[in-house]
Order: sequence, then structure tokens, then C-alpha cells
Amino acid sequence: MGAICSNREVPLLTTPSANPLLLLLENFRMLSELLLTEMARLSQKDNMPLHRQLYEALRRAMLDGKLGAGDRLPSSRELTDDLKLSRNTVVAALNQLSVEGYLVSRVGSGTFVNDNIPKAQPRTRPSSAPHHVADLSRRGTALSSTFCATRLEIQPFTPGIADFSAFPVALWQRLQNKHWRMTYPEMLDYSYSGGYAPLRRAVADYLRVFRSVPLDVDQVIITSGTQQSLELCAHMLADHGDTVWLEDPAYWGAVKAFMATGLQAHPVKVDQHGMAPSPADEKKPPRLIYTTPSHQYPTGAVMSLARRQQILSIARTHNAWILEDDYDSEFRFSGPPLSSLAGLDKDERVLYLGSFSKVLYPGLKLGYLVVPKRLEAAFKQAHYDLNRPGQMPLQAALAEFIELGHFASALRRARSSYAQRRQCLLEALQPCLGEHAQITGAEQGLHLCVRLPQAVDDQALVQRMADMRLTVRALSAYCLERTDAKGLVIGYGYAPLTEIQRYGPILAQAIKAEIRRLAP
Ligand SMILES: Cc1ncc(COP(=O)(O)O)c(C=O)c1O
Repeated sequence: MGAICSNREVPLLTTPSANPLLLLLENFRMLSELLLTEMARLSQKDNMPLHRQLYEALRRAMLDGKLGAGDRLPSSRELTDDLKLSRNTVVAALNQLSVEGYLVSRVGSGTFVNDNIPKAQPRTRPSSAPHHVADLSRRGTALSSTFCATRLEIQPFTPGIADFSAFPVALWQRLQNKHWRMTYPEMLDYSYSGGYAPLRRAVADYLRVFRSVPLDVDQVIITSGTQQSLELCAHMLADHGDTVWLEDPAYWGAVKAFMATGLQAHPVKVDQHGMAPSPADEKKPPRLIYTTPSHQYPTGAVMSLARRQQILSIARTHNAWILEDDYDSEFRFSGPPLSSLAGLDKDERVLYLGSFSKVLYPGLKLGYLVVPKRLEAAFKQAHYDLNRPGQMPLQAALAEFIELGHFASALRRARSSYAQRRQCLLEALQPCLGEHAQITGAEQGLHLCVRLPQAVDDQALVQRMADMRLTVRALSAYCLERTDAKGLVIGYGYAPLTEIQRYGPILAQAIKAEIRRLAP
């Protein structure tokens, strides 16, 4: 094997010779040297924690092609010994790379570089290929290779998907036609600053009554959904490199929005009461705090009142902003009604984000952002300039849909149908779980979480379920840094009742078998 080369004519980890074991050991030694050199460079430059240095060093080795698709990595124990690091440090780095899709684990054979990571290109730049990694910024590479959603998401048990087949299409079409018939030229222009006024009014009325958000209509900005709201908040309230606190485990959409806007993510553990900042977290003071307090995504934890007060107080201390993503609070099935964090906010530090993706349908691409009064003018101006928003006839149809009470009836119908599905799933799961597994987050929303013992390889379990054509997600796949959260995130919004009746028991049996395997 030649020296380590940046454009990887010779892969770093291969075993092509007569004595594969010796070569393997030699390869691993070279990898360790490479990692240590890169970590030393990173520690001088950026003062990163060790697990982050190792994560970066491995990630760069993969992106530069020094580690290639399909290469096997040394085990965490081997890396621990070779690099003289603690096991936790190594496991945290490897776990993060798995979560982001750089590494895959194959039970019994080890950890490998994913086949799908972008391939390194030769230094001599090829002419016109559009998606070469050399063409992308580091941010572009990260955005296009981590947490990638696929259309396969639309499967019965995929979390986060609503049953948009129940949407009243004929009625919607009539309303749309009516607004297209009535359309006057201004309606074909970019939308008014902040959005179409009757829609903003309808949203404000709804939030005042049902979410206890104290607001007036001027504070509402119609956006193309939560992603756009998040990016707008990040652009307007934080500068490149500022810290955003994210829940760990986290909503991928938010992770990507902050990655795209150049913020430094700081993961804060979630416990049964929601986001749980510790004094150590406060050493990394936030500029933004992104949270899903009504139904933490994905664990489903409901943020306690004490925790809400704590988050508000931290924001006050650090002069930070809170971004409250209230993505599925319309569907609450048990427990007392919850008011929003924005409703408790006395200092105007909470920005409230909502979406029509769950109640109506995701392709509608309409959501809303409620900003404190003092930010209103600046946000509207920037939203207009950055996005040139439009779709006024669509916004007008939606405003009328809400005003005429169709939104409330769609919500009522959806609530009762999801309540049945949820109940059916709970009845299938509960008898099989015993003391080693526990359901969380079933009081609200379109998914629940089955927490499993730490020893469970939840990603392997998800793969086994996929082999049975059941799509669920591994809780660990949402984790940013922590390695102790294992479980399954199971959606019931999209699954018809008959499918839950049929496949719920199969899911439950697969979980039971896994638990038995660990604790016979
Ligand atoms: C936590 C969370 N927030 C927000 C959304 C809605 O996002 P959008 O309005 O961009 O469709 C989702 C959708 O899955 C979600 O899971």
C-alpha cells in the first residue's frame, strides 16, 4: 500500500495481499495515524470536544476518499485502544456518523462506510458533472448526504405522516375554483407582506382560542411551512457560527435548517419532561433554542411546567430566542389540554411555529410563524425579500376553508380517526412489552415511541422489520450525540385501521422477540 493519498487511487482500508490479517492491521494503524493527525489539527484550530474531533476526522477521511464505500472500520474497542480515547468518546463519534448515514453496522460483521456517501473526485477538476462533491461546499455535502428523506417515507407506520387521503378534495376544489374565478390582478402578484390578511386573521383567531397564544394579527406571517419559518428565524436572529440548542433526539428537518444557515448545533438531552438542559449545557450559551414542547419529536415527551419555566429563564439569562415548533398539538387524545410555551412567555422571547401539513396535507406547503411585536416589521420585510412569497388564491381558499368551519370539521374527523388507530396500536403493543419496554408519547400526535433497553440494536431491529415490509424508525437514528436512547418510533396517522389491526400484532411480536433475545 502506498502513502495515504487525498484522491484515493489506493484505498486506505483494503486487504488485497497474501496475508490479509497483517495488511489489515497495517491499514488500521495508518488510519489511526491519519485520525490522530487530523484531530490534533482540529483541536488547535477549533477547540472542539474530543468526540467531535474524532467525528470530523473520520467524516473528512470519508469525504476525501481516504476511507471508501464499503470499507470496514476497526471496532470501537480497537479505536479506543489505538487512539487512547475513552470508549464513550469513540462510541459517540461512531454513533453520530451512523445516524448521519456515513456508517452502517452489519450485525456480526462490523461497521462499514456506507455505499451512498459522495465519492471523492480527482483533484484535476472534471468539466461539467453537476453533482460532484468537488462542486459542493462542505455545507452542501453535509446537506445532501445526511438524514436524507425518501419518498418511501409514506408507509403505514412511518412516523409523522398524516392521513391526507381523508382530505375533502372535492370541497377544496370548489373553493379553489371560486377563488380563481374571483381573482383580480393583484391576487396574481407576490403575496402581501406577511401573507393574505384574512388567512392571517383566521390563524390568529385559531391560536388565541385553541393554543392560548396571546397575539394580534400583525404578528402572524404566512410561510411555506415550518422549514421556511425555521430558516427565516435563523437568518434573522442568529449569525453564522452562533449556537442553537437542539433537542437530542431531534427533528431532522430542524437539524437541516440550522445546518443550512451555518449555526452550531448544541444537542441538549431530552428526558421524560422534555428538553432537559444541564449546567454543562449552559457553558455553551444558546442564541436560539429550538424545541417541540407539546409533544417532543420523536420521543413524544410533554414538557413539564417546571421545564417550561426553566427554558424561559435560560432564554432570559442568555438573551436567547425560543423557537416553539407546535407541529401536532391539534391531536391531543388524553391528559389535560396543554397550553403553548408562547402562552407563558412574558418577555416576548418565543417565536411560535405552526404548519398545515398535518391537519390538511403536506403538499399544501403553508404554515405560519408568530413573531413578537418588536420583530414584526423586520421579519415581514426579510421574508418578502428572501422568498418573494406568492400563492394568494391558495391562501384565500384556505382562509375561507377555515372561516366556513371546514377546518374545524376536518380536524374533528381526523382526531376521531387517529384516536381509533392509536387505540388499536396500543392494544396490539401493550400486552407484548412487559417491563423492559415502555410506550411514551401516545397522548398526542400521529406517532408514539416504544423505548427499549440500551442493549438493543434498534437500527438492526428496524432493518429486520423492514424485511417484513414494516417501516418504522429507530429512535437512535434521531440522536445527535447521545448513545443511550434506543427504541422504535411508530406512526399511526397514515395507517388505515385495518392495517393496524393486521400488522400491529406482528410489530408487537417482533419487539417481544427482540426483548426476549436480550433478557431470556
Ligand atoms: C417536528 C416537526 N415539525 C414540523 C413539521 C412540519 O413541517 P412542514 O411545515 O415544513 O411540512 C414536521 C413534519 O413532519 C415535524 O415532524
